[in-house]
Amino acid sequence: MTPFPLLEISYITKTFHTKRGSYTALKDSVLNIRQGEFVSLIGHSGCGKSTLLSIVAGLTSPTTGGVIMEGKEVDEAILLSDKIAMMTNGPEATIAEVVKVDLPRPRDRMTIIHHPNYGPLRAQILSFLQKLNPRV
Ligand SMILES: Nc1ncnc2c1ncn2[C@@H]1O[C@H](COP(=O)(O)OP(=O)(O)O)[C@@H](O)[C@H]1O
Ligand SMILES: [Mg+2]
Repeated sequence: MTPFPLLEISYITKTFHTKRGSYTALKDSVLNIRQGEFVSLIGHSGCGKSTLLSIVAGLTSPTTGGVIMEGKEVDEAILLSDKIAMMTNGPEATIAEVVKVDLPRPRDRMTIIHHPNYGPLRAQILSFLQKLNPRV
């Protein structure tokens, strides 16, 4: 079992702009799936199941939020960086927080996840990203 979710659907909002105006089909959708878990997605016709699944498949891009596979973006940043600068959303984006990656080098993907600093650091970064698109 992986220590973190295999797939993280993180605060996905999807707004379609049509001739008849804009329509927000999905708002702040969150779902974490671990390796080996069997998950069903149910809801009435037109609620947004296909939209959500096509975002997960990478066929459609979300308006805000994102899909994190194996925490890849965050884990890559932790693996490579001395410091991680975290930006707010645009327009007028700014660097809101800079976290120091206090992990020994050389770093190996599979061993750093067991370091005591790894979990708290990862949680800090994910919670920063989630604060940008809070659940209403
Ligand atoms: N490309 C699109 N442009 C505009 N509206 C869309 C588009 N795709 C889906 N929608 C709208 O988003 C909502 C969710 O659609 P969909 O994801 O297909 O629902 P489901 O698969 O649950 O039946 C519906 O109201 C649909 O009309
Ligand atoms: Mg559908």
